[in-house]
Amino acid sequence: MTIKGTTKLVGVLGWPVAHSRSPLIHNYWIEEHGLDAAYVPLPVRPEDFGAAIAALGKLGFVGANVTVPHKEAALAASVEANPLAARVGAVNTVVFAEDGTLRGLNTDVAGFLGNLRGGAPGIDLASGVAVVLGAGGAARAVVAGLIEEGDMKVRLVNRTRVRAESLAADLGGEHIDVVDWDERASALDGADLLVNTTSLGMTGSPPLELDLDALPVDAVVNDLVYAPLATNLLKAAAAKGCCTVDGLGMLLHQAAPAFEAWFSLRPEVTPALRAYVLADLGAPVKSEGEG
Ligand code: ATR
Repeated sequence: MTIKGTTKLVGVLGWPVAHSRSPLIHNYWIEEHGLDAAYVPLPVRPEDFGAAIAALGKLGFVGANVTVPHKEAALAASVEANPLAARVGAVNTVVFAEDGTLRGLNTDVAGFLGNLRGGAPGIDLASGVAVVLGAGGAARAVVAGLIEEGDMKVRLVNRTRVRAESLAADLGGEHIDVVDWDERASALDGADLLVNTTSLGMTGSPPLELDLDALPVDAVVNDLVYAPLATNLLKAAAAKGCCTVDGLGMLLHQAAPAFEAWFSLRPEVTPALRAYVLADLGAPVKSEGEG
């Protein structure tokens, strides 16, 4: 890559940001399409976010991704946010207009749905029951996808019940039943889909303790955790015969609409890109959809 006077800049604001694979993914596509552009990591402390995002617009950046812990602040900073981002309560992608003003988007919802449809091609999101574990930012994008793009009933299970109740109130209470964390195993009865949005099972976090006995064998199980890629949840679900979808695809699929918003060019999520990112994660390479 050669940086020139004409090179367009994009990047990712996060704190910390060193673990982010977004630079890897977007620079892969920039190179693949021969664009005169570069994507850079932007480590920005929470207290500096407002100044940093305003400065990026003035510095001529085309746009940026926004990751933890700035997604809510990015919504507040957006002059114009798309309705989905406003309902989810988070912006993960911004686009700067010529005058530096900021338009906020949420591509996490599309990323979740794209990954799920890619990994479980037969899945019907127009009906049925989904059990969602967790009620944080990731859960908001997942639940919005399931009830707005799809038409599923959601059983929302979270350790802190009040957080699940607040998510349900924000996103459409009639589609969502809040279930106590201690009832998570019985909540699986008759479910068509199980999604883990908690950090449980991630390297360095406690394990997810969940008895899958009540889960039907034709259910689809998606873990948003991708380090490790084959979580204990996915291994147990696969051993039962369930279709499993890992979390790496969500990261790749949320990146594609962001890239398109900046460069008017929709990049593809290919097995080669997946293998490239997996190699960087130090994980064994598998193709999309494999359990
Ligand atoms: P994200 O934006 O990635 O969703 P988050 O907002 O910090 O991150 O949410 C993390 C989720 O994991 C929450 O649902 C959290 O439950 P609480 O709302 O009760 O905090 C869940 N989580 C984290 N550690 C947990 C644990 N030890 N047991 C159960 N749930 C846990």
